[in-house]
Amino acid sequence: MTVRTLPGPNAFKLGLFGLNTDGGIAITKVPERWRARWDDIAEVVRLSDRSGLDFLLPIARWKGYGGETNVRNACFETLTYGGALAAMTERLFIFSTVHVPVVHPVFAAKALTTIDHVSHGRAGLNIVCGWHQAEFDMFGLSQGAHDDRYERGREWYEVLTRIYAEEGRPFDYKGRFYDLKGVTGEPAPVQRPRPFTMSAASSPTGRAFAMATSDILFDTFRDIEAGKRQLAAIAEASAQAGRAEALGVCTACHVVARETHAEAEAYYRHYADTNMDAAAVDFHVGTTKANRIVDAAMIEDRVRRAAGLSSYKLVGTPEHIAEQLIAIHRAGFAGTTLSFVNFKDELPFFIERVMPIIRRAGLVA
Ligand SMILES: Cc1cc2nc3c(=O)[nH]c(=O)nc-3n(C[C@H](O)[C@H](O)[C@H](O)COP(=O)(O)O)c2cc1C
Repeated sequence: MTVRTLPGPNAFKLGLFGLNTDGGIAITKVPERWRARWDDIAEVVRLSDRSGLDFLLPIARWKGYGGETNVRNACFETLTYGGALAAMTERLFIFSTVHVPVVHPVFAAKALTTIDHVSHGRAGLNIVCGWHQAEFDMFGLSQGAHDDRYERGREWYEVLTRIYAEEGRPFDYKGRFYDLKGVTGEPAPVQRPRPFTMSAASSPTGRAFAMATSDILFDTFRDIEAGKRQLAAIAEASAQAGRAEALGVCTACHVVARETHAEAEAYYRHYADTNMDAAAVDFHVGTTKANRIVDAAMIEDRVRRAAGLSSYKLVGTPEHIAEQLIAIHRAGFAGTTLSFVNFKDELPFFIERVMPIIRRAGLVA
């Protein structure tokens, strides 16, 4: 069974995660932390587009995590942001991360189609069902019980894809969460039957949702052996679900690349341990535990959380980081996101020093 992956020449897909928000995916007080200023984002995006990266994955966030920095409170909305990125790039896939309860599917279908036309078929959809109730309080919404969020997500996805399938023919929809009349939306997206779609979850319900709706699941893993077990389970579930292509699985990594291992480890300790925003980390750990079903040891590893949520640690020399990426690729992951404390300062070193090694190993073209 072939495994679904993003189009493009790279055997192992590389993306940037969290460029659109304060702190990226880190929870740190260091002054050089990512501030998500538009001109810096634009510079990083242009560099990524010409350097052979595959995609950009933004975070959908409406409210910060408190603490000293109130990290993530500053965050660009991902559909409008996606339209701008589409117009300024030529190769990258531009994902928009869309919260099911906040963005109506009729609106989402049209916005995504707009990005797909502007980019000539490079729009991607990341469906998130939510976990941070305080965000939904601003909209007067309840995120509901964990599994209900995904049930709502299934209806949301059904409405969106039906709009694309009907090509302008109006339809009514009646479900548990949506009761809609005369729904229609044109033009159709460039990608048929719909733009490339991903979702992220580790709960059984969240994974079943991805299996039913997505091309790719985003999943974190504790170590590479655990990652292999997760991939085997997803491959088996894909076969059982009767999919034409198995659900692809991408992961997420945080990166500190330096000339020496000692230098990289020292900086990692400096930003993720000594300078973690402890109150914001505590908020994130507490809310995650209350709202999600995930690997408890991974949630409670506060340094890992401050370093890059549950993502995998890539810290060391270019050779070490390349070896780890090769191992992740060989384990069967379709690709990974990369995040840095400061994308603009650190991405060039990754491109110059890590990319050539993984290019020689056949991961990127
Ligand atoms: C790579 C990745 C990206 C995510 N992006 C977002 C996001 O931008 N906004 C959000 O609210 N949740 C985001 N999530 C959280 C998921 O949507 C989901 O709530 C979480 O993985 C827990 O789901 P589960 O309890 O079903 O496992 C992301 C998760 C991962 C692994």
